[in-house]
Amino acid sequence: MPLPYVLLSAAVSLDGYLDDTGPERLLLSGPADFDRVDGVRASADAILVGAGTIRSDNPRLLVGSAERRAARRAAGRPEYPLKVAVTGSGDLDPAARFWHTGGDKLVCTTDQGAVRAARLLGNTADVVPFGPVLDWRALLEHLHDVRGVRRLMVEGGGTVHTQLLRQGLADELQLALAPLFVGDPAAPRLFGPGPYQGGRLRLLETRRIEDVVLMRYAPTAPGSGPDATAADRHWLRTACELAALCPPSRTAFSVGAVVVAADGTELARGHSREGGDPVVHAEEAALAKTDPADPRLSGATVYSSLEPCARRASRPAPCAELILRAGVRRVVTAWREPDTFVEAADGTGVLTAAGARVVVLPELEELAKAPNAHLPG
Ligand SMILES: NC(=O)c1ccc[n+]([C@@H]2O[C@H](COP(=O)([O-])OP(=O)(O)OC[C@H]3O[C@@H](n4cnc5c(N)ncnc54)[C@H](OP(=O)(O)O)[C@@H]3O)[C@@H](O)[C@H]2O)c1
Repeated sequence: MPLPYVLLSAAVSLDGYLDDTGPERLLLSGPADFDRVDGVRASADAILVGAGTIRSDNPRLLVGSAERRAARRAAGRPEYPLKVAVTGSGDLDPAARFWHTGGDKLVCTTDQGAVRAARLLGNTADVVPFGPVLDWRALLEHLHDVRGVRRLMVEGGGTVHTQLLRQGLADELQLALAPLFVGDPAAPRLFGPGPYQGGRLRLLETRRIEDVVLMRYAPTAPGSGPDATAADRHWLRTACELAALCPPSRTAFSVGAVVVAADGTELARGHSREGGDPVVHAEEAALAKTDPADPRLSGATVYSSLEPCARRASRPAPCAELILRAGVRRVVTAWREPDTFVEAADGTGVLTAAGARVVVLPELEELAKAPNAHLPG
């Protein structure tokens, strides 16, 4: 299911804290960075926070700039993004500023929390229960499908950021690093202890804003199960973009492929007809650049814009077979192979019969098809 683009936003001290333990909210960044945050809010369809942040900071979470609000209206969007509060307990103060400023409000909660939240808030907000426990993926699907949210800004706190990052649901982190220390172990941290992706995140940007540094990162580690992570979507999009590099052919698909280790390290990439080889396939070209003895291949994911082939005339081994021989057991693809050149090709069947997992992301199918628009059918 398609999900919104999820952007985690926070200001953080040099020692990794979101706040101190004093009664007032600790101001970590300055006017120029608050203005940047205002711009990010204006770009979002919804802003989400945990109930802890509403209780401790009593935030308004508005777009402050009249020009930015006017631009939203001119673009046919609501003046303010939807405000989303997440709570398990439903224990929300109806007098909090969150409920009395801005546009529409939504509470995402559990069955039990919904009873309490609805009683406390009345008509102030829509209250949506997500079962006995709140499932983040279901919440994001709801925001996408029911509320039309395509870009979600998450403004904390640490409990919420930590879950979205760990569950592979965050597309981007925007951290404003403030030049001060908190030094109090009782203060809230940006990210709590526990398992995170093993490798390094991808640095998207650094920007100096007065004495604060904005750092934008994207998670890179592939998912491990049947559900696609934000990083899976990124890598598959990369594979689809590689397909545009293929020399066009009327007798073969244009396909891109990337091989990524479990810790998010890119091992190889390739595309059809690469390097002057008129028959090489994308997955074949990428795998040929890996070391067959590389132990990371067994935990790697192959991203291919088109489902790996199950039969081919041009070479003895089809790509599904090459993937299995390499020891890879997870494939993410955007487009099941049509009957254009081979009838009832079923690379997915070959892979799954051998114990590999195939994840299909139909939301990227059009992107995968784009470099193949000249082909019949
Ligand atoms: N520096 C910054 O940029 C920044 C930004 C935001 C916040 N902060 C700081 O962060 C601190 C608050 O962070 P926090 O971690 O304590 O709170 P939080 O993440 O804002 O909220 C945590 C609460 O959200 C609800 N929640 C979270 N995950 C849930 C789930 N899976 N299911 C159901 N409910 C869930 C629960 O509410 P219930 O308790 O109601 O069940 C939970 O107690 C404050 O000190 C604030 O100043 C700083």
